[in-house]
Amino acid sequence: MQEIISQLVNETEKAISVTNELRVLNDLKVEVLGKSGKLTAYLRGLKDVSAEERPKIGQYVNDARVKLEGAFDKAETILKQADLNRKLAEEKIDITLPYSGKSRGALHPLTQVRERIIGYFVSLGFGVVDTPEIETDYYNFSALNIPPDHPARDAQDTLFVADNIVLRSHTSTGQIRVMEKQKPPIKVISHGRVYRADEPDATHSPMFHQLEGLVIDKGVTMCDLKGILDGFASFIFGAGTTTRLRPSYFPFTEPSVEVDASCAGCKGAGCRICKGTGWIEILGAGIVNRRVLEGCGINPDIYSGFAFGMGLDRITTILYGINDLRVMFDNDMRFLKQFV
Ligand code: DAH
Repeated sequence: MQEIISQLVNETEKAISVTNELRVLNDLKVEVLGKSGKLTAYLRGLKDVSAEERPKIGQYVNDARVKLEGAFDKAETILKQADLNRKLAEEKIDITLPYSGKSRGALHPLTQVRERIIGYFVSLGFGVVDTPEIETDYYNFSALNIPPDHPARDAQDTLFVADNIVLRSHTSTGQIRVMEKQKPPIKVISHGRVYRADEPDATHSPMFHQLEGLVIDKGVTMCDLKGILDGFASFIFGAGTTTRLRPSYFPFTEPSVEVDASCAGCKGAGCRICKGTGWIEILGAGIVNRRVLEGCGINPDIYSGFAFGMGLDRITTILYGINDLRVMFDNDMRFLKQFV
């Protein structure tokens, strides 16, 4: 009996030493030490052993159990550690791998252009004012000498919020807001969203952006306007760009002009951007109408000034060769990512 047990112990120890998997080790343990295991069976068999032999053999079986339990515990600890080491090695995160990184954001092209333009005028000493997007008829039309029968006053052209309340159709409203509060000399720009009752297409949007300039002082002339605009055109479209003034009409200026910049793409030779003319229309301007000054309490016999208004979206599309205005407002990442 003792021999059989010591043989079982030896065999089991041998099996333990060659087991390299926790699951297999556990099965082996159950097979030998479990409730119906081999060694347990000997304990049960003690009842068939003679009374005098019984304690001796009982002791022997117990010693064998203690010994084997120790062996199993030791093997289990070793296998668990090996398992952990394997996992650590296999599942290790390689922190030396290059990280593709999150893509960097960028300012919208319109914002980039706007900031550059504002920076230019600020460098010339212009102040920047912010005026309401929702305006009364007075600021959008009457104070700017826009007559009652002017087409801009039609609901077809301007978005009315209520009777006499409109979403401003231009930033020229800012001129009145400033002149009401401030006495000359005045040198400001105002900019922001403007609205018109237009169907969106490649060149129209019901919401777009304008930047307005206003200079009022003693002896301000068209030459001052031309000088400022030439400087601006060179700044934004590149050195050597000039402007030409074409006679036009705006109720709030007299005389009024349409301003073209020489085409930077072809240097005046004519190309796709300037539609073969060598010139690109960039803004409207003029000498502030006496009636507008008077309406704001500024004496037109003492003071004079000029004003100009440009579409920021238009300047942006010219600068980047964008041929459809709508992409500016689509928030399509494929478009926006090009401006990082
Ligand atoms: N308000 C005009 C428009 O929306 C642009 C403009 C023209 C502004 C002449 C001016 C100006 O200040 O003098 O089309």
